[in-house]
Amino acid sequence: MKAVILVGGQGTRLRPLTCRTPKPMLPLVNQPFIEWMLLRLRDYGIREVILAVQYLADRFRTALGDGSHLDMRLHIVEEPEPRGTAGAVKHVEHLLDGTTFIFNGDVMTDLDLKAMLDFHRERGSKVTISLTPVDDPTQFGLVETDRDGRVRRFLEKPRLEDITTNFVNAGTYLIEPEIFRYVPPNQFYMFERGLFPVVLQTGDPMYGFPSRAYWTDIGKPQTYLDVHHDILIGKVQYHFRGQQVGERIWVEGEVDIHASAQIVGPVVIGHGTRIGRGTRIIGPTVIGERCEIGPECQIEGVVMWERNVIEEGVTLRNCVLGSGNRIGERSHIIDGTIISDECHIGQENRLERGIRIWPGTTLGDRAISF
Ligand code: GDD
Ligand code: MG
Repeated sequence: MKAVILVGGQGTRLRPLTCRTPKPMLPLVNQPFIEWMLLRLRDYGIREVILAVQYLADRFRTALGDGSHLDMRLHIVEEPEPRGTAGAVKHVEHLLDGTTFIFNGDVMTDLDLKAMLDFHRERGSKVTISLTPVDDPTQFGLVETDRDGRVRRFLEKPRLEDITTNFVNAGTYLIEPEIFRYVPPNQFYMFERGLFPVVLQTGDPMYGFPSRAYWTDIGKPQTYLDVHHDILIGKVQYHFRGQQVGERIWVEGEVDIHASAQIVGPVVIGHGTRIGRGTRIIGPTVIGERCEIGPECQIEGVVMWERNVIEEGVTLRNCVLGSGNRIGERSHIIDGTIISDECHIGQENRLERGIRIWPGTTLGDRAISF
């Protein structure tokens, strides 16, 4: 059985983290998110996967190649221009043979794929959409089903007054390839606003598979942080690459932690990272490879990628740092701030309230201060 993963979106809601890194390549506990997805498929015996790429396509090719390092067979197929979710699968239709899983590439879930496949087969379904309950369906595709699970209505990003259920499209589908006869070739076409409404009209069997498995769309900064939190506190099954060295503390390879530093898990520290004198690191926090964390820093609820230099006395709280940044002495980076890549923040700055710093930005000393 094959799977297609849709990874061509621009990840606009996650900018600036996605300016240089496509959303599915964002690190999740120091490992590209897509790798976690692929390994999950491999666990289910699905070893041949088609990645429908578009935005920053080369990043996928460089990192994943033909998939042999994961003992899988990958086809990385780029659309000449964005074709939309269904158009992207139409573009790789020639590679499909029989029942196929399709995944949105930004959903963290431990959905039971075997149970979904059984459900699909038992009903002779042509399209099965996984469903999950959410608090706010306006951000998603609302799916109404009858008692037997047959889809009665599909409404993408519904208005408040149109909400009749809190079950939404969870972004995992099982399809029979024949359904793509309804998708026009070489065009932009969406499952959500195109194919699903059409299938409702034609009457081909389309079912919703409800599940209460763990589920989050990592497409927004807060959910990107939340997913890390959930993994670190054990809410979702996750295989840590590092070695556990203390109460919910994992290190990946060689790290250098000063004897007076204090680490309160859950915390993951990447290979080659150094942590200075008197620094406190409080979980849930993930620190990438080769970071230099100076003395007397306070770090709590942070996701930081590789090669960051954090100078003396810096406070980082509930924020995301991309790669290769330098944060000047005594600065405070707090409250949902996002700093992307290769930024230089001078001394004694205070960045808060979800401020977003674009790649390559330089901020002088006390430019935004107390
Ligand atoms: N190849 C390709 N080409 N992939 C695309 C394209 C495209 O033109 N457009 C979007 N994608 C990929 C994105 O990379 C992402 O993995 C997936 O399709 C879904 O796109 P999002 O932009 O993340 O959509 P959304 O989150 O607003 O809504 C979708 O997901 C929700 C669940 O998370 C919809 O499917 C909703 O119905 C659903 O509830
Ligand atoms: Mg999404």
